Amino acid sequence: MKVSTIIATLASAASLTLTEAASRKPSRTFGTVQFGGDKELTRCRLDPIVNPGVTAAHMHSVFGGSNFGASMPGDYATKASCTTANVKNDHSNYWVPSLYFRSPENGTLYPVELFYAKVYYFFEATNDYIKPFPPGFRMLAGDSSLRAPPNPVHDNLDASKGAITPVQWTCPRSDDSTPLYEPTSDGTKGVGVQDPSNGGQGWGFPDKECDGYASPLRADIHFPSCVKEDADPTDYKTNTCYPSSNGMGGEDCPAGYIHVPHVFMEVYWNTLKYKDWWPQKGQGKQPWVLSNGDTTGYSLHADFINGWDTETLQYAIDNCDPGNGGLHTCAGLPGGSTSEDEMNSCKVTCPLAEGSSDNYYQPMPNNKLFGNNPLSGYSATKYVAPGGSSPAPVESAKPASVKPVATTTKSPAPVIYKSTTMRVVTTTKKAATTKAAAPKTTSAPVYQVQSVSKSPKEEHTTTVLATNIHTAVKTVYVNGGPPPPAYTAKPVKKPAKTPAPAPVKSPKETCSRKKTAKHHRTHRKHHNRAISGNSF
Ligand SMILES: *[C@@H]1O[C@H](CO)[C@@H](O)[C@H](O)[C@H]1NC(C)=O
Repeated sequence: MKVSTIIATLASAASLTLTEAASRKPSRTFGTVQFGGDKELTRCRLDPIVNPGVTAAHMHSVFGGSNFGASMPGDYATKASCTTANVKNDHSNYWVPSLYFRSPENGTLYPVELFYAKVYYFFEATNDYIKPFPPGFRMLAGDSSLRAPPNPVHDNLDASKGAITPVQWTCPRSDDSTPLYEPTSDGTKGVGVQDPSNGGQGWGFPDKECDGYASPLRADIHFPSCVKEDADPTDYKTNTCYPSSNGMGGEDCPAGYIHVPHVFMEVYWNTLKYKDWWPQKGQGKQPWVLSNGDTTGYSLHADFINGWDTETLQYAIDNCDPGNGGLHTCAGLPGGSTSEDEMNSCKVTCPLAEGSSDNYYQPMPNNKLFGNNPLSGYSATKYVAPGGSSPAPVESAKPASVKPVATTTKSPAPVIYKSTTMRVVTTTKKAATTKAAAPKTTSAPVYQVQSVSKSPKEEHTTTVLATNIHTAVKTVYVNGGPPPPAYTAKPVKKPAKTPAPAPVKSPKETCSRKKTAKHHRTHRKHHNRAISGNSF
């Protein structure tokens, strides 16, 4: 045998060994979706996942497709006429609680302007086949009821390694040579707790100024990427889980779950605008409040309703790896990108008036959040498990100079909103009845959202909105009208798996099973690398 042949044989044997040691999809591919338009698609106290058909508990900043509204049955999101996402065929809606600045001097609450928002679609290394979300699928990440740091304090998205920490705050600083949180902070006394694996991130709001280049305070939310097969897509509480490392450099979903893209959302808030209004930086207190009244930041969460064109997302999974260049730049992606004009003209008017008005950034009347949510915070000492429904504790200690805020929580009163263009009636009780009784119907769904297309030069005034509606104004009939059609899940075809490298999976109900994976996951490290490859 010639020497060169021997070398070639050895090389091929070596590469075979490497292949065998890696996951079927050996490395992560990814691309981003960024939102254009005028900051949010809308600001609105609606939540079609958690509070369908009624006013939601707190204000949301919403991104994506124009079909966002109080009630979004089935795959209604997909049928949106426009989107603020720069990928044209992504009509999904994404939303987070809005952020407020609370003056340490006088307690006044100011809505913080959105800086921008961006979503990463990570197609992770895996032995599974990554599939698009099922039609009508919806999910949550994070937990609005949390007021305490994670326990244990670890950065973990691996279901085989204990509690998942799906949300974080990132605070890019011009000088980040020191940790973001004082090492003495355990996250229970007025400021958050440091991520031991990343000096620029942690849980709970930081008390430092986030003055990194083009990067103020950032909310980070990782959605789960395992979706239970044949689950009711609206059963957002139990239909998902996080994957586990497979010991081969990738991550797999448990048997009975579809592996969908890992959606990671970054929401930047223009916190620098208030930098002169709180001189007490680094002193263990911070001024940020989420719209649900949370003064700790632990309750950060996000919601997602699938509005993707299925083929487009499948194409992206199979063919695209543009990274921070954005999925919209991927060659051959069906639909391509959304133009600036299209993004700018894609609007949704919140039927509750309190969100979208031009004076949104004015101080909150009577120092109250929309929905009268009381401020709550660091009196909690116990970690409430994600999904737990324990009511948030009411903040007991306040700075002496701060006027007391309302601490009464009333069940939402019926809201009747009337204008020349729409009528929305919401009643919590009636909604519950409607939900329970919702029969199957084939009648066309009716919604309360206006999609408004304007020439980009026009002012965003109510008058303009009322006269430029390109979609007929629709009304939601929570009170006595026809209920939305029942959603029937389409059976999801399970692809045949390659038999060779896939580890044997045992049937299971949850994600937290794989105790055998020895390799520490490099997942978050990869993620951080991807992020730091960004332009900030
Ligand atoms: C409240 O305090 C801030 C400084 O934190 C100040 O800029 C603002 O003008 C004050 N507002 C009122 C209504 O006094």
